[in-house]
Amino acid sequence: MKNIFNPNEISLVADYIRQGEVFAIPTETVYGLAADIRQDNAIKQIFSLKNRPNNHPLIIHISDISQLSDYAIDIPDYAYRLAKNFWPGPLTIVLRKSKLVSNIVTGGQDSVGIRMPNHELTLSLIKLVGSPLAAPSANQYGKISPTNAKHVITEFQGHVKVLDGGSCNIGLESTIIDATDAHTYSILRPGMISINAIYEVLDHTHITYLKKGTKAVSGSHKYHYAPSKPTFLFECPSQLKKISDLHQNSVYILSINDYQHLGFNGCRMPFDANKYAKVLYQKLRMADESLFEAIAIEKPPKIIEWEGILDRLMKSSAKSMEIFIQ
Ligand code: TXA
Ligand code: MG
Repeated sequence: MKNIFNPNEISLVADYIRQGEVFAIPTETVYGLAADIRQDNAIKQIFSLKNRPNNHPLIIHISDISQLSDYAIDIPDYAYRLAKNFWPGPLTIVLRKSKLVSNIVTGGQDSVGIRMPNHELTLSLIKLVGSPLAAPSANQYGKISPTNAKHVITEFQGHVKVLDGGSCNIGLESTIIDATDAHTYSILRPGMISINAIYEVLDHTHITYLKKGTKAVSGSHKYHYAPSKPTFLFECPSQLKKISDLHQNSVYILSINDYQHLGFNGCRMPFDANKYAKVLYQKLRMADESLFEAIAIEKPPKIIEWEGILDRLMKSSAKSMEIFIQ
């Protein structure tokens, strides 16, 4: 069965989706496992393909800001301000849902996450389908998100069709902001649009930032984005040595600084946060598929540009680190 479709087959892909098929699609962040939000059966299939609990809401992808008022109600002015500033782009805005969004999509919540992806091919696809596409990241629940078409094929062992839009430019899932309240907002998931960038846009609007979101966010669970091998974070050579000793020196390193000269195997990661995000999931998959027993990742700088990356690394390594610290 043919399962990778090229950009020039976009009309065919739109037909499939309109008829109720699930299709993996590219975005600038990661690939999504998409379905037409009007097709309840296709939406249910997304949950079963991913092994995702059905109370974990899906975000919906629109192709134009004007659609916001079709799918959300009680939209605060500041949400429009954010949309105008960051769309198309890696920001998901959670708002109260309209009747056009089913409870199946939102996992029973009365809010919906909406974003307009910065990917020409996918924006054209949404227009052709004539309806927003619900799409979580196209990975098995709790695993690493795919950033190219081949990753999707591997993740679902060829059982999912994918529109090939090349490698994702951002490489990390969108920042999610809860804008359901007219006076306060919170960040539910950090991403490459930092809280500082959001502050700047909302400056002088008298909208208050609440530090901790309370909504159910699957990526906010303790373990997520995880390779199948034991995965650790380290900050210095002595910690790395400890991890290496635990695993018979069979450790694959992802490091910003040079640890190769100390005799460790692995690859160097970019020093720049945007470049790092773009390659992170691809390198994590490579490390997971290597012959080494474990993965050790050098902790990136604790500054705002790295917030989203650090969040994913903490979750990828949470399980192994718990054991390591004991
Ligand atoms: O960059 C992205 O956001 C990618 C691409 C494909 O757009 N999508 C993505 O979807 O990462 P997903 O489902 O893997 O992560 C979206 C997160 C989930 O953790 C979900 O729980 C949360 O957003 N979410 C969705 N709707 C929500 C809502 N109404 N309230 C609170 N959290 C919500
Ligand atoms: Mg995900």
